Amino acid sequence: MYGKLFALGAGLLFGTSVLCLEVRASEPTTPPDPPEFPAQSEPVFVGVSDILEYRALPEYHEPEWVTEKFVKTGKLPPVKERLPKEPLVYKAANMPDGIGVYGDVMRHVIGGRPEGWNYIAGQSQGWGGIDIGMMECLTRTGPLFMVKAEELQPLPNLAKSWEWSDDGHQLTMHLIEGAKWSDGDPFDAEDVMFYWEDHVLDPNLTPLNGASPANFGGESTKLEKIDNYTIRWTFDTPFPTEYLYQMAYGNFCPGPSHILKPKHPKYSDNTYEEYKNAFPPEFMNWPVMGAWVPVEYRPDDIIVLRRNPYYWKVDEEGNQLPYLDEVHYRLSTWADRDVQAVAGSGDFSNLEQPESYVEALRRGSDESAPARLQFGPRTIGYTLQMNLSGNGWGDPDERAQAVRELNRNLDFRKAVTMAIDRQRLGESLVRGPFTAIYPGGLYAGTTYYDKESTVYYPYDIEAANALLDGLGLKDTDGNGVRNFPEGTAGGRDIEITLLANTDYNTDRNLAEGVVNMMQELGLRVILNLQQGTARDDLYQSGRFDWQVFRQTAEMVTVVQNTAMLAPTGPQVHQFHRAGSDGTLDLLPFEQELVDIVNAFVRTQDLNERAELMKRYQKVYTENVYSVGLTQYPGALIINKRFANIPAGAPIYMYNWAEDNIIRERVYVPKDKQQDYELHPQSLPGEPGGDGPIT
Ligand code: GLA
Repeated sequence: MYGKLFALGAGLLFGTSVLCLEVRASEPTTPPDPPEFPAQSEPVFVGVSDILEYRALPEYHEPEWVTEKFVKTGKLPPVKERLPKEPLVYKAANMPDGIGVYGDVMRHVIGGRPEGWNYIAGQSQGWGGIDIGMMECLTRTGPLFMVKAEELQPLPNLAKSWEWSDDGHQLTMHLIEGAKWSDGDPFDAEDVMFYWEDHVLDPNLTPLNGASPANFGGESTKLEKIDNYTIRWTFDTPFPTEYLYQMAYGNFCPGPSHILKPKHPKYSDNTYEEYKNAFPPEFMNWPVMGAWVPVEYRPDDIIVLRRNPYYWKVDEEGNQLPYLDEVHYRLSTWADRDVQAVAGSGDFSNLEQPESYVEALRRGSDESAPARLQFGPRTIGYTLQMNLSGNGWGDPDERAQAVRELNRNLDFRKAVTMAIDRQRLGESLVRGPFTAIYPGGLYAGTTYYDKESTVYYPYDIEAANALLDGLGLKDTDGNGVRNFPEGTAGGRDIEITLLANTDYNTDRNLAEGVVNMMQELGLRVILNLQQGTARDDLYQSGRFDWQVFRQTAEMVTVVQNTAMLAPTGPQVHQFHRAGSDGTLDLLPFEQELVDIVNAFVRTQDLNERAELMKRYQKVYTENVYSVGLTQYPGALIINKRFANIPAGAPIYMYNWAEDNIIRERVYVPKDKQQDYELHPQSLPGEPGGDGPIT
């Protein structure tokens, strides 16, 4: 079967000639249809209750060596006592290859580096799903790609069930009872409240993926503890089921309060910076609710994680999960992740940098290739974002402020978008039917996309230049670069900095493409290339003029990260946040976008929702809210020895593939198991201790 798929991929790549579809016209139009690129496998659609349930089973099992070396010696209570009253049970019928066996390792490779473990205070662990494997959230959305539309709602997770009050303003959630952190400390409402009160609500802290009150309905939303295992939300609007999506990965994954609280500034003498940095990457055995615990760290080399002996999920036969005893994170580059996964020295990659597609397809199409490679829908996309704050976000100097004023001008944004030759830009990454013209806004091919509501300003460099002439931006000194009007920034050359992430070749290549195309428009764009974490800090604090940005899930699903579709709160949006006085200086069309997004969250009516998103798309693209660059499909590369990889798992939809494939259920059949474990038959030791114990 894969042979056939590769033949298809290779045919698309090497056999087809590429037609240039783009027509020159200065009139806005609808975007051309993306070239055909069928996803290579489709999900088997099921209901949420087909995937999992919470229930006590007659007996429980664990790897034999855990019983022998840890339980029988008294180092660990028996597995039944380590599990919650009613563990989360994955149903066998929904496991593509059924009940698994223990052993083996998933060897990841990543381009990021860990800042430390305190993700609820904003620290990154280097991405690539290392955090996804360690943290668990109230709800879960990654696997929703396989849930049928009529039953679509977030999966229960740490919140095992919930109910709405009759008037729909209150949501009562029941937490899993008796589950424990990986060091044996109970998980309960205290962990949840500590996350909410002392992180989301504390303006001095921003959790890793930027959760703020706006994600949950704004400052008026309340969350209270009813008892150890019950929490209650109160919302302004009735039945905002939308927020259940925000309680998943990214926005509501509590941290271990028993370890964190004593270091938090409210309960200690620490500053916020000290708190954030209190658990550096060298701190081993960081307590998690996820399936694997970090037990070894070698800078620029590897992070090793071992199975969490208190993990609270099991299969239908009562086998405690995960099946995989160990997980590796090689600290390398993102491009190396592709190379290693294809070669078989790594196990997993989200093939997402089109520069590698030709080589990966060529090598992967061999029958004897160690990994399978499967393309999904076009859910990777890049946009050029302009900083739209005119009132001081990021503390702009005179030049930067003058650029902000340009950014806030529609004709300026139109000129920039019309100066982007998207056909050429896409082909500079990879030839073939992969990339599509992306005007910005919701992606073509996704649920809420409507072509007729999408305004596309085709490439037209003359018209673009005429627009800038019309704005009085002339090249007064004849050096090929337009100048600010007299009286603005000293009438000097217009120089715009473009922030981009050097961890990815694609980000860098797109940024360079933009720089070149802007030359034709008489704008001098200067690259500000930064490594991932530094880039994140700069954009999160508003210190950029423009940035090249890989879009996040809201552009794919709308229901995930919905609040981020517009500046619905002071600190929620990617390129327009509150200025120094705490207010947002929204442009009229931005206010319209905010109103549309808020209306979307308030209604459950599917037709109304569809209509609202058509308007969103219209207002977004007509006003060139951001300048779309390109959109293309990604492929999941995974070593052939792994079982239980769900069909049609996209590399990105509600979440990344590291969540979508439900790693805790993934296993390697006994006859395919390899000797990759670095710490066989060991378990995490004490938090802050030396590493694993045997
Ligand atoms: C990075 C990678 C993605 C994915 C995510 C997971 O962003 O580029 O492919 O692995 O991390 O967080």
